[in-house]
Amino acid sequence: MKIAILREWRAHETRVAATPETVKKLVALGLDVYVEQGAGAGSCFSDSAYTQAGAIITPSFEAALNDAGIVLSVQRPAVEKIAHIKPGAVLIGMLSPHQDRSCIEALAARKIDAFAMELMPRITRAQTMDVLSSQSNLAGYRAVIEACNFFPRAMPMMMTAAGTIAPGRVMVMGTGVAGLQAIATARRLGAIVCATDVRFAAKEQVESLGAKFVMVETAVADSFETKAGYAKEMSEDYKRQQALLIASTLSKQDIVICTALIPGRMAPVLITAEMVRSMKPGSVIVDIAVEQGGNCALSKPDEVVDVNGVKIIGYTNMPGRLPVDASMLYSSNLFSFLTPMIAEGGELAIDWQDEIITGTALTHAGRIVHPSLHARTE
Ligand code: NAI
Repeated sequence: MKIAILREWRAHETRVAATPETVKKLVALGLDVYVEQGAGAGSCFSDSAYTQAGAIITPSFEAALNDAGIVLSVQRPAVEKIAHIKPGAVLIGMLSPHQDRSCIEALAARKIDAFAMELMPRITRAQTMDVLSSQSNLAGYRAVIEACNFFPRAMPMMMTAAGTIAPGRVMVMGTGVAGLQAIATARRLGAIVCATDVRFAAKEQVESLGAKFVMVETAVADSFETKAGYAKEMSEDYKRQQALLIASTLSKQDIVICTALIPGRMAPVLITAEMVRSMKPGSVIVDIAVEQGGNCALSKPDEVVDVNGVKIIGYTNMPGRLPVDASMLYSSNLFSFLTPMIAEGGELAIDWQDEIITGTALTHAGRIVHPSLHARTE
């Protein structure tokens, strides 16, 4: 069985779907690994490192894809690449299935079995395959580092002969995987941290990291969490109360890290233009929810916006700013997902009853099969 590792093609995508370490493991599974030339360059993995790990480097994506039964990518491949994947092959990546319907239709039409890693069910057995967690964790860390880069002051308290430097004040919006790592990172740097979320369950986690939890007090707060542990869209009344709470907290902060998301919806806007104007010059907002519209009304994808001296950083693909670690964790997630699909001798053996498979499969045998894509029958 031939497996192809593609070079990513989107701007700002530095990650790669297999590192030389995972190539060794894929070879040990009995697979013939073909890597598109330069695929690892953005993550500091040279072609020769892949060759030493047992891969064959191909000069083009056409050569990598030719007769490949499995294709691994980070983001969804360009349409011209999909046309070179052989019918019946398996494609695994972060395919953003709700963003580009035509891509999903192209995959179905080509009879490719496509799996979107970001739809992985959050069950214990699938923890090693959870790309949202592995990438969000790095994003939360990096968001704080980016904020420090723009912050015109030091973060920790420093008592010197020339005077005392007060510690930075950091607020984290949304305390899922990224938010919790942002809290931990800011605390390690010596900041005074507070955080907010709509899920009451987050309070204990936030406090265990040494941060203060700020939340709208409401009797029905626990109903804002779905069974899967995600946030729901808030009521208008809740949003009004939350805006008042954030407005009164925000003006005292130096750095705000925005990570609040609601699956399948636009990110909630938690920081209005007026709130930004209430912040001190030199303050920094890092909005990692920007790809879903952003938690700050003024953030713009891949731009640093300056509003009266307040910097709003809208970098997309925050994990891609740590490509070596992001690729290492992502490729390990893919390997964990792929391993049960490979029978002895390197042939594909997919268990179509397994909830990990049904939860992530977008297309199979010429059809769009994922329930969230309203399955069509050709
Ligand atoms: P996410 O990326 O979907 O959202 C980030 C955070 O934003 C969440 O904590 C959410 O409650 C919060 N949020 C949404 N709307 C908000 C608003 N209006 N104001 C303030 N905060 C708001 O979340 P992520 O990181 O994917 O985690 C979601 C849940 O999944 C958490 O409960 C987490 O503990 C759980 N989880 C479970 C795993 C497992 O394997 N069982 C693995 C990873 C996470």
